[in-house]
Amino acid sequence: MRVVLGVSGGIAAYKACSVLRLLTEAGHEVTVVPTRAALRFVGAPTWEALSGRPVSAEVWDDVPQVPHVRLGQQADLVLVAPATADLLARAAHGLADDLLTSTLLTARCPVVLAPAMHTEMWTHPATVDNVRTLRDRGVHVIEPASGRLTGADTGPGRLPEPEEIVEAALAAVGRSPAPTGATGDVDLAGRHVVVTAGGTREPLDPVRFLGNRSSGKQGYAVAAEAARRGARVTLVSANAQLAAPAGCDVVDVQTALDLERAVTGLVQEGDVDAVVMAAAVADFRPAHYAEAKIKKTHGAGDESAPTIELVRNPDILAGLVRRRDETGGRDPYLVGFAAETGDGTGDVLSLARAKLERKGCDLLVANEVGADKTFGQDHTTVHLLDPGADEDEVVTVGPATKAHVAEAIWDHVAPLLP
Ligand code: C5P
Repeated sequence: MRVVLGVSGGIAAYKACSVLRLLTEAGHEVTVVPTRAALRFVGAPTWEALSGRPVSAEVWDDVPQVPHVRLGQQADLVLVAPATADLLARAAHGLADDLLTSTLLTARCPVVLAPAMHTEMWTHPATVDNVRTLRDRGVHVIEPASGRLTGADTGPGRLPEPEEIVEAALAAVGRSPAPTGATGDVDLAGRHVVVTAGGTREPLDPVRFLGNRSSGKQGYAVAAEAARRGARVTLVSANAQLAAPAGCDVVDVQTALDLERAVTGLVQEGDVDAVVMAAAVADFRPAHYAEAKIKKTHGAGDESAPTIELVRNPDILAGLVRRRDETGGRDPYLVGFAAETGDGTGDVLSLARAKLERKGCDLLVANEVGADKTFGQDHTTVHLLDPGADEDEVVTVGPATKAHVAEAIWDHVAPLLP
């Protein structure tokens, strides 16, 4: 495939070297088109050496070849990473004052932009409008990740990891990088999936909360895999300290009630094909929230400890099952997760089977948890249980990476979506 890799002038330009490597190693013919500003961060010899092709930012070089028209016309994919606020503005307004923006105007292939900039620039109404304009025209604008920006500040605006950019770009042209175990096609194209991830925090006072040890890694992997397979993904993230996966809309929540509002709101919009409840949702929350920090002592000699009264949180997954039965509307396929340690009443699988029956969801992903198992780790072992399956039909995946488990989940679910 002929790829034009545009690079605009931000510090993240150095990451485009890895994007270029990934594309050339996958056998694509890549022409790098930097802007003048990008060349102040990474010089032309680097791009030429890595791509094996000449590099120019100008329309005045190699004029007989008419590069400002030819590059865009002949490309199968134009990917710009990083795309700065300035590049987005020039692209949205159809300017053609250098080779990259001219190429964007002549390209008739999929165009994928991976923005990177400071949070203030990303959230400025001018940039928001430009991104909307570009998306309305069919340009794929990848959501930037959240995390460390230049210097000490953090927030949305970070360039996603090179692997994620390449995956999103190849998905846009209907090609899969086909990692091991994947079906290799874009079998979730046209689907909207909602994935919850992380662990809820139930506040006691302005500084304390009841929480759990979920890192969000599994839910993020499930969301990233769905995006790679072409789905529109809304990731409802509860307190996960992770970079947003490429191509996912992230909705941040804190408590179980926030998460319930976010998920049920999305489902009620009526276009959700699947909900994957990977988040660890607190079953209980403090009955009372103290507006001021709870004090250790209440006076000289008062060494008593407070008692925390808890109330039950709604079971969000069970609520989705119930409402589906009530409305008979668009039926999202519902996936629950079970984190089991096993106890005196049964092993992990039998507890999971009982939970599947109680919850009434379409698939239960059961994993064994413990202080050093699963939580925060990159590897896990899960069992996929669906209501119709016999004991011997339970699919066990792992020990495997959470990315591989995510693939196995979508391999199972994608063919079952109506
Ligand atoms: O009952 P248990 O918490 O073990 O069930 C886990 C599954 O149920 C997970 O998919 C979790 O996201 C979901 N859940 C929920 N609402 C709760 C508790 C858990 O939807 N209050």
